[in-house]
Amino acid sequence: MLSDSLLKKFDQLIARYPLKRSAMVPLLLYAQDEVGHVSEEVIAEVARRVEVRPIEVVEVIGYYSMLHRHPVGKYNVQVCTNISCMLRGADEVFEHCCKKLGIKNKQTTPDGLFSLEEVECLGACCGAPAMQINYDFYENLTPEKFDALIEELKKKEPRSKM
Ligand code: FES
Repeated sequence: MLSDSLLKKFDQLIARYPLKRSAMVPLLLYAQDEVGHVSEEVIAEVARRVEVRPIEVVEVIGYYSMLHRHPVGKYNVQVCTNISCMLRGADEVFEHCCKKLGIKNKQTTPDGLFSLEEVECLGACCGAPAMQINYDFYENLTPEKFDALIEELKKKEPRSKM
């Protein structure tokens, strides 16, 4: 069940666009923030509101790496391994991320804190290798920088989750 405040936000966003379907991605992002992922219920509701078939919403979700069909960790780590990042060591960095977190591509740590995903270009090529965690970008990534960041995020968590 989506909250009343989210449904109100849906109405406001849709009203901003000449074509209702243009509001699809913002609606999906706000819904994902509330639900934790883009559930079947979210897909159905967004499709109904922007007047497209649910499969069209599914197709859009498939294009954007920041939209998730399944629950992810509290911190969703997305490491770019596309050409610019690859040329500046992204494959090695990604391998290090797997080791540091103890998980592989598209997996989540047992405590639900971190998910890891190898993604295509994040649009931050000038700072390659680049990574995104939730809505924050990190550039010129090195294994050392990654470790420091992960430790910093762990410190923010209540002791029970560390
Ligand atoms: S190739 Fe990695 S951010 Fe563009």
